[in-house]
Amino acid sequence: MKLADNKATLSFSNGSPSIELPVYQGSIGPDVIDIRKLYGQSGMFTYDPGFLSTASCQSAITYIDGDKGELLYRGYPIEQLATKCDYLDTCYLLLKGELPNATERDDFHKLVLKHTMVHEQMQFFLRGFRRDAHPMAVLTGLIGALSAFYHDSTDINNPQHREIAAIRLISKLPTLVAMAYKYGVGQPFMYPRNELSYAGNFLHMMFGTPCEDYKVNPVLEKALDRIFILHADHEQNASTSTVRLCGSSGTNPFAAIAAGVACLWGPAHGGANEACLNMLEDIQRNGGIAKVGEFMEQVKDKNSGVKLMGFGHRVYKNYDPRAKLMQETCNEVLAELGLEKDPLFALAKQVEKIALEDDYFVQRKLYPNVDFYSGIVQRAIGIPVSLFTGIFALARTVGWIAQLNEMLADPEYKIGRPRQLFTGSPRRDVP
Ligand code: CMC
Repeated sequence: MKLADNKATLSFSNGSPSIELPVYQGSIGPDVIDIRKLYGQSGMFTYDPGFLSTASCQSAITYIDGDKGELLYRGYPIEQLATKCDYLDTCYLLLKGELPNATERDDFHKLVLKHTMVHEQMQFFLRGFRRDAHPMAVLTGLIGALSAFYHDSTDINNPQHREIAAIRLISKLPTLVAMAYKYGVGQPFMYPRNELSYAGNFLHMMFGTPCEDYKVNPVLEKALDRIFILHADHEQNASTSTVRLCGSSGTNPFAAIAAGVACLWGPAHGGANEACLNMLEDIQRNGGIAKVGEFMEQVKDKNSGVKLMGFGHRVYKNYDPRAKLMQETCNEVLAELGLEKDPLFALAKQVEKIALEDDYFVQRKLYPNVDFYSGIVQRAIGIPVSLFTGIFALARTVGWIAQLNEMLADPEYKIGRPRQLFTGSPRRDVP
C-alpha cells in the first residue's frame, strides 16, 4: 500500500479535536482512508451496513471498474482471457499472479486433472441426502465434509497444506457437482476421465452413462469453459468476503470454502441465475413476450416485491462485461443445438431491450449482469436449473482460494470482527 500525499481530516461539530487520517493509494481505483486508529483516537466507530464505502482488505487479484464496465483478473481484461485462455490458465493466473508458460501450463493441467477422483467413501456420505435435496444443500455438505476426508491438508497456516487443498478443491469440485446431479436423477456416478479437458470431463460426468460412450461436443465444452472463466473471481463480493471472514479465524480451507458456497446460494448473489431462469419461465407461462410490459410494470412497482433478476449490480453501474460475453456464448450454443428460435432467449432479449430503454432502469443504472444469459446457456446444454448455482460455485472456488491465500499471506490480516451501533435495551434487572 502506498501512502498518498494528502490526508483526510475528520472534524466534529461538538468542539472535539479533529483527527487526521492517512490516505492510501492503490495501483488503480479509488484511494482509501485508513480508519484503523479512529476508535482509539475518538472512541467512535464508522457505520457502513452492506460495506457500501468500506474496503475490507488490500488485494492484487481482481479489479472492477463499475462505471466503465471493466473486469480485470491480475490486470488482464476478462474479454481477452475469455477468448485467448482456458479456465485452467485462468485458475493458474488467479492463484499465482501470472499466466503460465508452456511447461507450467502443461504441469498445472496435469496436476489438476490427476486429482479429479474423490474418496470412494464420499458417495456413501452423499447417499445420506434425500434424492430431492437441493444441489446447493448437498454441495455445502459435501464440500464441508472434504475436511473429514482429506484431513492431511487442513492446516491453514501451512503453505503446503494450502497448496494441496487448493488443487484438491479445484480438481474435485466438478466431480462433486456431477455426483450431486446424478444422485438426484438416480443415475450411477460417472468416474472422471482425466484425458478430457476440465470442462469436457465435467460434461462427461454429468451426461455420460456406463451404457454407452459419451462424445463431448466441442461447442458446449467451450461454452462451459467460458462460464467457468467468467465466474472465476469477482473481488470482495458477499461469498468471497464470507470465505475471508471464515478463514480469518484459522479454520481449514474446506470449511471456509463451504461457507462461501452457503453464501453464494442466496438469490441476490449466485442464486440469481436460477431465479432469473425461473422468472423467464414464469413470464413465458403467463403469456410470454406479450406480457413482458406488464411484468416490467410490476418490477417498477416498489410494493410488488418483484425484482428483475439478472439485472443490477452493487459495483457495475454499466453493462456487466461478463453479460456481453455470455450473450455471445448464448448465440453460439443455441445455433449449435438448433435452438436459435428458443422462446426463452427471445423473451430475455425483449426484457433486456425494454429495460435498457426504460427510465426506471436507466436512472438507477441497472444493466444485465452475468446471470441474465448464463441460465439460458446452461439450460440449453441440459443442466437443470437447480444446478446453476452449483456450477457457479464450482467456477468460483478458485477465486475463493486465491483470495483466502492472499489474506493469509498478508502481514496485516487479523480475524474479522466488525463492531456495531447498539440500539437495544441498556442494562436492566430481571424482576
Ligand atoms: N430490479 C428492480 N429494481 C432493482 C434491481 C432489480 N434487479 N436491482 C436494483 N434495483 C433498484 C432498487 O430497488 C433500488 O431502487 P431505489 O433507489 O428506488 O430504492 C436501486 O435499484 C438500487 O438498488 P440497491 O438494491 O440499492 O442495489 P444493491 O447494490 O444493494 O443491490 C443487487 C445489488 C445485485 C443485490 C440488486 O441489483 C439485485 O437484487 N439484483 C437482482 C439479483 C441479481 O441479479 N443478482 C446477481 C448479481 S451478479 C452475480 C453475483 O455477483 O452474484
